[in-house]
Amino acid sequence: ASDSEIQLIKIHEYMTDLYHHILMHTKEGEEALKYLEDRGFTPEIIRKEKIGIAPDMRDFTKNALSDKGFSLELAFQAGIISRNEENFSYYDRFNGRIMIPIRNHQGYIVGYTARSVDGREPKYLNTPETSIFQKRRLLYNLSDARKDIRKQDEVILMEGHLDIVKVKMTSVGNVIGLMGTALSEQHIQSLNRLASNVTLMFDGDDAGQNAQLSLGADLLEAGLNVFVISMPKGMDPDEYIEKNGKVAFENLVKNEKRHYIHFKAEYLLEESMNNDMAFSNNIRTLTEHLKYVGDQVIKDRLIQHISQLYKVDRQSIEQNVPTPSYDHA
Ligand code: CTP
Ligand code: MN
Ligand code: MN
Ligand code: MN
Ligand code: MN
Repeated sequence: ASDSEIQLIKIHEYMTDLYHHILMHTKEGEEALKYLEDRGFTPEIIRKEKIGIAPDMRDFTKNALSDKGFSLELAFQAGIISRNEENFSYYDRFNGRIMIPIRNHQGYIVGYTARSVDGREPKYLNTPETSIFQKRRLLYNLSDARKDIRKQDEVILMEGHLDIVKVKMTSVGNVIGLMGTALSEQHIQSLNRLASNVTLMFDGDDAGQNAQLSLGADLLEAGLNVFVISMPKGMDPDEYIEKNGKVAFENLVKNEKRHYIHFKAEYLLEESMNNDMAFSNNIRTLTEHLKYVGDQVIKDRLIQHISQLYKVDRQSIEQNVPTPSYDHA
């Protein structure tokens, strides 16, 4: 890292400790701390993740940093304060928000996702793109999850940062997140280097389902084995854990992993039944996906499942599976 990048990280390390202290030990933090505890986040996990609160003030962060001797120009470059482009004065970017630190792949804090506590929009405000905070490169929680990912040869990918924080209170450790739902070329490369298996566990709403369908296809085509754990309708992993407990969640992760193609076949079945055009398109899509399945036994099982589900001859599926292309292998 360059000198200025080290300074940007130092700014984050300093402010993170301060935000955390305010959350845990001062009156300014009381409401947010209660909010987090009501959502099932324990003081231990809040401490471990160094979650904090940015006070609802215009100049708190700015003054804290300049009192400590940090350059405000650098703090602006770090994305932690904003600048009025008419008179070049600085002011706080984050007001009255729960600050969830985001670490880079080496474990240094490089930004935040910041949640409002009082219903203020937007619900989440993130650090803007900076030289050390690049959404297309970052995988949230990778520095903590790497060991478990390697050991299990599997990554579990989730949508929400607080989902991941909550899951870290269970025995499931190989969980990471994107910054939003865009999966970049760099993400795919990183994932490919980390593990052979990716499991998607997105929110049980339309947005989550759609993201799962589109990301899953990209990951499959990149040569990864892709699985899906479906959330009950309207729930995300955090809510699942709050409602059903850690053990139920751990069992879900252990026992309910369907192959992406299996998941998709079931997902597309309903619209295919009374719509012959959709039927034929969907069978074609599923068949095309099959060429990326390297494991012959799994491939066989998927073909059998599709043929039963869609009531088509398994040979007509088999014959149409395109010859594998080895450009990804
Ligand atoms: N997100 C965002 N900006 C928003 C809404 C969402 O960046 N205005 C991102 C956040 O990373 C968030 C993820 O999308 O974690 C999933 O969104 P959502 O399901 O709405 O949030 P949750 O993580 O479930 O947040 P919470 O449980 O705190 O409501
Ligand atoms: Mn959602
Ligand atoms: Mn959610
Ligand atoms: Mn949620
Ligand atoms: Mn099934």
